[in-house]
Amino acid sequence: MTLGMTRRVFLGRSLWLSAGAVMSDRLNLFRLQHTNGKRSSQRGSATPMMITSHSNDTGRRALEAAWEDLAAGGSALDAVEKATNIIEVDPEDWSVGYGGLPNERGVVQLDACIMDGRTYSAGSVASLENIKNPSSVARLVMERTDHVMLVGPGALEFAKSWGFPEENLLTEKARQQWLKWREDHSARDDWGPPDHLKERGLSDARVDEPAAETYGTVNVLAVDTNGDVAGITSTSGLSYKIPGRIGDSPIIGAGLYVDNEVGAAGATGRGEDVIKSCASYYIVMRMRDGRTPQEACDDALQMIASRYRAVGLDYLPGEKFVAINKAGEFGCSQTSGARPPRMTVTNQSGLSVYEGRSAFPTESG
Ligand code: GLY
Repeated sequence: MTLGMTRRVFLGRSLWLSAGAVMSDRLNLFRLQHTNGKRSSQRGSATPMMITSHSNDTGRRALEAAWEDLAAGGSALDAVEKATNIIEVDPEDWSVGYGGLPNERGVVQLDACIMDGRTYSAGSVASLENIKNPSSVARLVMERTDHVMLVGPGALEFAKSWGFPEENLLTEKARQQWLKWREDHSARDDWGPPDHLKERGLSDARVDEPAAETYGTVNVLAVDTNGDVAGITSTSGLSYKIPGRIGDSPIIGAGLYVDNEVGAAGATGRGEDVIKSCASYYIVMRMRDGRTPQEACDDALQMIASRYRAVGLDYLPGEKFVAINKAGEFGCSQTSGARPPRMTVTNQSGLSVYEGRSAFPTESG
């Protein structure tokens, strides 16, 4: 199979929102020394590239901002963090970071992970509250501890120790969606107007659009000029989830996997299925076996469907996978949909939106 055509759809200049402002000068100094020391002897001549699973304007801005550094010889690791930080602070994005839809109690709990192919290192945080850039906290878990994953209050304490400020992540818009969800999702609880008014049509019951719901997530993957590969996955997770629920996004091998000899893959969608199938690891291993990124993403969706078929179930969870390899190829697949899935790509040909494939296309989506 061949890759589809890219379509150039974006114009405009980039804007870099400095998430690094939350980190101490000491940490920045450490990064600078670390980066210079490790990389000066390794200058390579690989073709850099970067993708994000987001195809909206914020995804474009994020890649534009990070590309300047990547093209100038910056590391894939720094580039994926810079791009993800921009997406995490977008208040209009209900699926990632600040402004994400909350859990069933109205609390925003974030999951994120990062993986550095150059050093075969990974870090992650899960159920992290009150911190706008969970991917940067995950990077510190990776670089400044001997652990891979910190959860809940421990992750928050760790973030605060590095100077991240605690902030309210629940925007007014997201709170309104949550209130609507709380009243509308069941007729068998006591949220909403009194029954005697509701039944007589005398209440102000909410009859407009149902509350927004999402499994949305962002993946950012990059290869730098040295041929090193890095990736991040970041999310607010399943909207209105049971408090403490952790999805695939902070789990290495599920929501993200990076192999410095091969490439990287990331997942969005129903996290429970991505965890069970270790989908990102599977995609990278398929690429290791010679499949293109597009073919490997397709393979993962077929694999998940076949697992359900094997137990007699005709069930197709909603997933979207993205992948890149070190040859500069990329791919994107989703389970179903009337329109192909999209992702944003930037490489030496410029910035474009790529349309991938639906594995089980439907007319209605
Ligand atoms: N893929 C995001 C989640 O399920 O939490």
